[in-house]
Amino acid sequence: MAAPKSVFLLGAGYIGQHIIDLLLAAKHPVTALIRKAEQAAAFEKAGIKTVLGTLDDTELITEQAAQHDVAINTASCDHLPSVKAVLAGIRQRVLARQPSIYIHTSGTLLLTDEAKGAYKSDKVYRDDVPADIDALPPTAPHRHVDLAIVLAARDFGDKAQIAIIIPPAVHGFNPAHNRLSVALPQLVRFALKHGFSGYVGEGRNVWNATHVADLGRAYTTLLSYIETTASSALLENPYFFTGGQEFSWREAAEHVSRVLYKLGRIPSPEPKAFVESDFGDVYGPRTPIVLGGNARNRAIRLSQLGWEHKEKDIWSSLEEDEIPFILATQK
Ligand SMILES: NC(=O)c1ccc[n+]([C@@H]2O[C@H](COP(=O)([O-])OP(=O)(O)OC[C@H]3O[C@@H](n4cnc5c(N)ncnc54)[C@H](OP(=O)(O)O)[C@@H]3O)[C@@H](O)[C@H]2O)c1
Repeated sequence: MAAPKSVFLLGAGYIGQHIIDLLLAAKHPVTALIRKAEQAAAFEKAGIKTVLGTLDDTELITEQAAQHDVAINTASCDHLPSVKAVLAGIRQRVLARQPSIYIHTSGTLLLTDEAKGAYKSDKVYRDDVPADIDALPPTAPHRHVDLAIVLAARDFGDKAQIAIIIPPAVHGFNPAHNRLSVALPQLVRFALKHGFSGYVGEGRNVWNATHVADLGRAYTTLLSYIETTASSALLENPYFFTGGQEFSWREAAEHVSRVLYKLGRIPSPEPKAFVESDFGDVYGPRTPIVLGGNARNRAIRLSQLGWEHKEKDIWSSLEEDEIPFILATQK
């Protein structure tokens, strides 16, 4: 049996740490890029080699990507220089005739539309229909980065294997990591500050949700698949969704309100629409785009590989895990 491949991971955060746990369990040597020197000792103690740097340390990233069999990026869907640096490292491996794998993390904000909370879209993207994803405009969120990856993958041809995972809203909490998602926790923090939970427009727009532990397994399922698959499969279609439970953002606001009201933290269980002056404490001027669009998708390809959602649903993890952690650590 071949030895487990070495992995360079950018972004050992909420999603990244779940992937690292699974990689270590499968005996992959892991090197993580970290930007806070004080984190190094804990990572090294857990058996993770660290390199200190930021996403702007492009030479370092290229060097590390060139030295590892696999690069996994869970740092940023929008930081093009670091992604170009990873691709430069892979190019070095291609030129040296060394195999390499790159799994990049995008996000389903990519799929968003102009609903601004007014409707649930009929459009459901499937990852076995790459033409629909390729047809997204280059101006779609995250697409400038994904496009650079797709173009590089075509250039490398069958000399490298490159995939893009496109997660939806990620939820769940792991006390071993002490990190939260950006998705619903932002609504919770807003509600604690302003006394109500909100949504954009009428909040009818729909997203999917994936638990972070299920998402971690999606990466390792994908890595195993890539290791045993001809490069041509990814060249034809590099995209993988993780789909999951559908919810409208009004439902999300209702659940946040319900739990916080029950706990006596807000005066009413009724959510209401955000007004423009609220946006600063949500996602800034991009709030109508980030929280107001539809991003429905199905994980056809990972399901075919036997991957499935096993963890608790989004509302249970909100109530049992995420809100208690936010309240316990609130300043
Ligand atoms: N969470 C979601 O719901 C979701 C959904 C879809 C897509 N995504 C995407 O998935 C990726 C990871 O998300 P996440 O929720 O795991 O976020 P996260 O917890 O913030 O993790 C990001 C990691 O990248 C590191 N990082 C970020 N900028 C960096 C920089 N300039 N230099 C060095 N390290 C940097 C962070 O370092 P520190 O540890 O020092 O902060 C952190 O460890 C992001 O691109 C996100 O947009 C997330």
